[in-house]
Amino acid sequence: MGMIGAERMEPTVEADRRTVHDSLQDKLTSPASQAGSGQTVPQEHPKANAAVTAAPTDMAIRLADVHLSLGHAAARVHILKGISLAVRPGEAIGLVGPSGSGKSTLLMTLAGLERADRGAVIVAGQELGGLDEDALARFRGRNIGIVFQSFHLVPTMTALENVALPIELTGGRDAFERAAASLERVGLGHRLHHYPSQLSGGEQQRVAIARATVGHPPILVADEPTGNLDEATGSSIVELLFDLKRDRHATLVLVTHDPSLAARCDRVVHLRSGLVEADHAPANL
Ligand SMILES: Nc1ncnc2c1ncn2[C@@H]1O[C@H](COP(=O)(O)OP(=O)(O)O)[C@@H](O)[C@H]1O
Ligand SMILES: [Mg+2]
Repeated sequence: MGMIGAERMEPTVEADRRTVHDSLQDKLTSPASQAGSGQTVPQEHPKANAAVTAAPTDMAIRLADVHLSLGHAAARVHILKGISLAVRPGEAIGLVGPSGSGKSTLLMTLAGLERADRGAVIVAGQELGGLDEDALARFRGRNIGIVFQSFHLVPTMTALENVALPIELTGGRDAFERAAASLERVGLGHRLHHYPSQLSGGEQQRVAIARATVGHPPILVADEPTGNLDEATGSSIVELLFDLKRDRHATLVLVTHDPSLAARCDRVVHLRSGLVEADHAPANL
């Protein structure tokens, strides 16, 4: 605004044009407008191609320079050492890497179960660092379905009760009807009242998937979901995850040691010692 005198000397039309230009410039560069005022902000992506042209705020998951240490005193370990990653809505990511490279920790961090010490974790447009514990729990309930290697079912609850649990915890309606429908969807309509100990490993994992997806979360994460299953059972679980992803347009992040599972993903991200070592299409495996 230091050029008022000079602007007054300009023809009126030119002055108006500059004013419009300046205010547009303000809108485009202010963080508030980028957070979703409806203004489209053109973004140059370093690897601009059809697959990665979405603006940052359109990403399902965005991590920027994420660091995380866990454990206390001498046992404290710097696990994530500056992870940056962007996942588009509907994309399937295979997260691979040696044991101890930080895959599970990264998954828990983007699922809001661990908090980054440093860096930004933005999931479904929400910066997770800004949420308190209650808000984070609500956010997870609405947005993220989690499937673990060892199923993590409640042993004293039936399949139906296990799947209804997340709906009941978030105060949703028709928990048992929806749980039954979700179990039908994974092919377990005939096992509603069985306890986990009465189910095979593959069936328990189906219950876990029914539980993770009963609320139709936009993001599904799975930590070695086939790791405790034989090959045939594991591949039927893989089919199920990809069917759900396709039918519900969910974003999928899968930790796996299984090359055939990684090959089904749109992208494979390799971790090594808490850093992204490579990030490419599965054909380059
Ligand atoms: N709660 C914890 N406290 C201390 N160290 C941990 C903790 N959780 C994981 N680690 C360590 O962090 C590293 C990465 O663990 P993890 O994310 O489970 O690796 P991955 O899933 O790739 O095998 C390992 O060396 C592990 O021992
Ligand atoms: Mg792990």
